[in-house]
Amino acid sequence: MSEFEKKVIEYKERINNSKNSEEILSINSEIFGKNGIINYEFKKLGSLPHEEKKKFAANINKAKQELTDIFKAKSIQIQDKGIIEKVSKEKIDITLPEKDFKIGKIHPISQVIDEISCIFSEIGFSVEEGPDVENDYNNFTALNTPENHPAKDMHDTFYLDEDMKTLLRTHTSPVQVRTMMKGKPPFKIIAPGRTYRSDSDQTHTPMFHQLEGLHIDRNINMGHLKGCLNYFIKEFFEVDKIKMRFRPSHFPFTEPSAEVDIGYRLENNKIIIGEGDKWLEILGCGMVHPNVLKNCKVDPKKYQGFAFGIGIDRLAMLKYGIKDLRSFFDCDFRWLNHYGFDPLDVPTNYRGLSR
Ligand code: DAH
Repeated sequence: MSEFEKKVIEYKERINNSKNSEEILSINSEIFGKNGIINYEFKKLGSLPHEEKKKFAANINKAKQELTDIFKAKSIQIQDKGIIEKVSKEKIDITLPEKDFKIGKIHPISQVIDEISCIFSEIGFSVEEGPDVENDYNNFTALNTPENHPAKDMHDTFYLDEDMKTLLRTHTSPVQVRTMMKGKPPFKIIAPGRTYRSDSDQTHTPMFHQLEGLHIDRNINMGHLKGCLNYFIKEFFEVDKIKMRFRPSHFPFTEPSAEVDIGYRLENNKIIIGEGDKWLEILGCGMVHPNVLKNCKVDPKKYQGFAFGIGIDRLAMLKYGIKDLRSFFDCDFRWLNHYGFDPLDVPTNYRGLSR
């Protein structure tokens, strides 16, 4: 056996017996390093007669491959052992009480969405959802919005591509389109969610929340719309009587269209909802335009109905006395601790919405 072969056997043993990554790395450089045994052996090649060179080199390469394989296997073993040791030391006793315990709270916006969903579910509405990233067709065209409508303006809409085909939805109304396209009438849905417009001040944030409502069936009229919204407002503000007025308005997707105001008065700087001689605008609504129904493959001669769009953040501010819209999105733990809700106290109609 040559000196080299003896050394190779010795190194194989040393690798196999090594205990940690430092040790194995230092053996590695003794073998494969610049002055290691492999290089040392290759240097001998130059002085050998031509006919011996091939066999000699093949021997070194074979030894090199064997040592490499053993080295790799042992390294993985050492690494795994290290991880197992580390994980076993990191054991946490989950039966111990938490030292720095903080109770999480439900954000007022989530609370209000739950409250509204609960109110509408009582009268047969189900909840639909749509994506934040919409196409121009669902957000505008299918909703009967003319090509040159100001809402399509770059200043208002966040477009996501240069040819203005993909955008962040500017309202929840495209969920109307998605719902009607995928099903058959009747439809009775609400759709809460995030909406986006390029606007920012005390009463506007680039991201805000809306809730869409849609009820399509045979013989649905404006009376149903009024009854439905009147019920909702009373339930939401938890009052027996509510002053409401429908003001004529315009939306491309409804005809006729209206905006709804509710009556209020101020008492010691606090808003008292439902009475008084002041008016607050809270939502837009109307009878769904026949063009929208046609675009969504619903026959307007057989079916009609109403739709509405509510600003959720606005309602949350009103109900819970929050002055600045921007505070909703500051992620300030102290604020959430003050205005947030108990996660275990889920709003229900029979237990009360906002205890
Ligand atoms: N999409 C409207 C907006 O963002 C709100 C709206 C008005 C929705 C009337 C409706 C509706 O469904 O019928 O301003």
